[in-house]
Amino acid sequence: MSTRKPFVGGNWKMNTDLNGAAELAAGVASAVGSDSGVEVACYVPFPYLVSAGQKLGSNVRLGAQDVWTQDNGAFTGEVSTDMLKDCGVTTVLTGHSERRHVIGESDELVGEKTRRALIAGLQAVLCIGETIEQREAGETDAVNERQIRAGLDGVSAEDLKNVVLAYEPVWAIGTGKTATPEDAQDAHKKIRALIGSMYDESAAGAIRIIYGGSMKPGNAPELMAMDDIDGGLIGGASLKADDFGAIIEAATSRV
Ligand code: PGA
Repeated sequence: MSTRKPFVGGNWKMNTDLNGAAELAAGVASAVGSDSGVEVACYVPFPYLVSAGQKLGSNVRLGAQDVWTQDNGAFTGEVSTDMLKDCGVTTVLTGHSERRHVIGESDELVGEKTRRALIAGLQAVLCIGETIEQREAGETDAVNERQIRAGLDGVSAEDLKNVVLAYEPVWAIGTGKTATPEDAQDAHKKIRALIGSMYDESAAGAIRIIYGGSMKPGNAPELMAMDDIDGGLIGGASLKADDFGAIIEAATSRV
């Protein structure tokens, strides 16, 4: 299959508590076991990064769900790349749909955060995707292109190697509705072609593009069987170590 290493991320969102986060982390670590050939990350709430990180072990990357654009200073409530790195974080989400559509982050702010993360040496998982209104208006490709161009503004070909793109149609997130494998594949293929035109063919061939939006053990195999779907970003199903483990298992079919 493809030479791209599959990537499966668990986005815990604003869930778990101190003990529950540590238990879940330990469960994920044991589900992953030794190196399966799949890159696995858990995006843990800020307060539990250190304690959960200690349980994730060396085969699961510790991730943060957000990051701020400055090193330090008067930014009440924000968290810098240095603070995250101090806690053992190596990967961050940028532009998750809840940050765009609930919190109100602009495409430009998402781009600044992505650049900042990459400059700091963190992996950035840049999330993009259309709302149901945009889909029904036939704007899916235009929205994806706008969010990718703004999200990768100023990102060099070298830094792009540390980017994963997560295509997450907003209408599929947390709703139980999943894009069909064919629709998701169509979007991923166009996104890969766009990366080819923004960078070059080798960058397009190398970048991981993962799908997110109600991915579960039951639908993960058919989604991951598609040529351009290199893994998943999992919300609800990442809160149960067994379900998350089954999704990781589905991703091993791409190794
Ligand atoms: P979901 O969330 O799997 O619960 O739909 C996905 C995400 O928001 O990343």
